[in-house]
This record gives sequence, structure tokens and C-alpha cells, in this order.
Amino acid sequence: RAGWPGIIRAYPDRIAVPPGAEVITLGEGNTPLLAAPHLSELTGATVYLKTEGVNPTGSFKDRGMTVAVTHAKAIGREAVLCASTGNTSASAAAYAARAGLTCAVLVPNGKIALGKLAQAVAYGARILQIDGNFDDCLELAQKTAAEYPIELVNSVNPVRLIGQRTVAWEVCDVLGRAPDIHFLPVGNAGNITALWQGYKAYQRDGVIEALPRLFGFQAEGAAPIVRGKPVPNPETIATAIRVGSPASWAGAVTAREESGGLVDAVSDEQILAAYKVLAGREGVFVEPASAASVAGLLACAADGRLPRGATVVCTVTGHGLKDPDTALLGMAEVQPVPVDHTAVAAALELA
Ligand code: F0G
Repeated sequence: RAGWPGIIRAYPDRIAVPPGAEVITLGEGNTPLLAAPHLSELTGATVYLKTEGVNPTGSFKDRGMTVAVTHAKAIGREAVLCASTGNTSASAAAYAARAGLTCAVLVPNGKIALGKLAQAVAYGARILQIDGNFDDCLELAQKTAAEYPIELVNSVNPVRLIGQRTVAWEVCDVLGRAPDIHFLPVGNAGNITALWQGYKAYQRDGVIEALPRLFGFQAEGAAPIVRGKPVPNPETIATAIRVGSPASWAGAVTAREESGGLVDAVSDEQILAAYKVLAGREGVFVEPASAASVAGLLACAADGRLPRGATVVCTVTGHGLKDPDTALLGMAEVQPVPVDHTAVAAALELA
């Protein structure tokens, strides 16, 4: 990553910022596109993982936030605001800190993973834990930003999604083509919307010939797009995608229809199974929401929706350290071991 300038300077012709704007970057983007040998063997496809947890605040949100905060600062804003299930708030807080702006975040009380809350605290955000879910937080944020001088940096702010297109471009730049299928988790649906816009821009400009199919996955208890109607009380262990009424619903439907793809649901059990395969077999520790893409891949391989030999990319959207509580679920009671190497050997059943 040495010398990588961040996505705004890496794609200057594709990401416009106001003339003379100070670019607010933490070196986001250029994340590894990692071959996944175990998943390839399991599925009969050639599987790559786009490891977005490697970004500066540990999720793909940094790609949109560099653009949103650069704009906010350039137009003279002193404060930014967002609603979040955790990652957007961590990212907004970091980029605002870097820009010297105040950041306020609205998060659902008790439903944000510990690491994300720790980040917002460390970066110095004003944190309001709202007695409601993400959908309530987003509505409040939109109403507040409409009436007061504070810049909304959720994905309803169109410049954010322009930054998030860069995942598509980086994948094509590395593969020399688009994958056959791109799998990703879906929550508020900004990411699937941006990914599709990104691939289409590359095709329009002749950088790639064929477009991929996009396969998006929601959590079963928070699957409004799959059900075709909002879910009033969304529930899932994957708190990042605990969204009942996605802001970019229409964009997700466009991506599904135009790409010949799908938006389907995976259960929390499937998400946790994929989470364990990723960490335990590929060495890639992601947060539960991120594992929804791989849970979807495994489901499609099992029921024949995945063509054999296909080249596929799964976006794994956030780092596993975001949610230490889920990682420690089911951990056995820790037994202390005496300071004695034979006791260590006995505990490890080496003899
Ligand atoms: N994966 C992770 C780790 C996320 O944090 C999110 C969204 C998604 C997937 C889904 O992306 O919303 O564009 O469909 N997190 C938002 C937040 C809602 O507030 O951080 P999406």
C-alpha cells in the first residue's frame, strides 16, 4: 500500500470534488482481492474475497466517506451527521476528526457492535443512542439535516455512493475483467447500488466488455427487499444489516434486474457458518454481516444457482474485530494453566 493516495486521487477522472477542495483521506481503498482456495474447492468456482476490513476504519464505508467529508469541508460545513448501525458512524467520526469537523452520530441503542462504538468514542464523535432502530435513526438524521446547518453523510447523500463505486473498479483493474458474479451483503442497499453503477461506468467507457451479475444477500429477519415490503422490527445477529426499510431499495432492484442477478435471504445460522469458514479456513476474520455474502455463495453452490467454473468475487465488508462479542460466543470456560511447560504440553495434548 506504500504510495497509495486514497481513492479520490487514484480515480481523479471518475470522482469529482469541488475545485480547490482539500482532499480528506486516510488512505482508503486498494484493499486485497484475495484468492480463497478453500471456498473455491467447496463451491467449484474460482472465488476471490474483496477484504474491505483492511480499510482505515475497518469497513468499505471509508470509500464513500472520504468523498462525503471532502465535499462537506469544501462547502464550508462545520459539522457532519449520520445515522448508523455502526460502521458509517465509525467512518464519519474518523474522517471528520481528520478534517477538523464536528461529527454527530445517531445509533440504535444497544444494537451496535462494541468495536464500532469504541471507534466513535475514540474519534471524538457526539454519540446519541436512539431508542429505536436504524430506520428511525435515519429518518431523524434526515429531518435534522433538512432544518439545521449540518451535513448528512449517509448514502442518501449522492457523493458517498460515487466513492463506493471504486470497489467495482479495483476488482476489474486487478482481474482485467469483471467477475461472472459479485456477491455482497445488503442492508440499506447503498453498496449494491454503487457497485452496479461502478461496473456500468467501466463498461460504458470500454474498460470491461461483459458486466457481472450481482447477488445480494439480506439477513432472513431483516429482508425487506426479498419480502417486497418493509420489515417493521428487523432482527439479526448481523447488526450491521439490521435494516427494515432500505434507503436505496430502488437501486438494489435496478441492480438485480439489469444484471440478471438476485436479492435473497440467508439465516443467522448460515451467516455464522460462513463466518466460521472464513476465519477458520481462509484466515479472514470478518464481522457477521460480511459473512452474508459468503453464506449466499455457499447456498447458491448447494442449490445449483452457481455455475461451475464461474469467477466470483465476494465483498467481505467489515473487519471481525468490529464485533468481538460474536467472536467469543460459545468460547469454552478459560482454564488457567500453571507456569510449567509440562502443563502446557499436557493442556495441548502433545504427549
Ligand atoms: N456490511 C457491513 C459491515 C455494513 O456495515 C453494512 C451497512 C452493509 C454490509 C450493508 O451495506 O447498507 O450499503 O447495503 N452498514 C450501514 C451502517 C447501514 O450504518 O454502517 P448497505
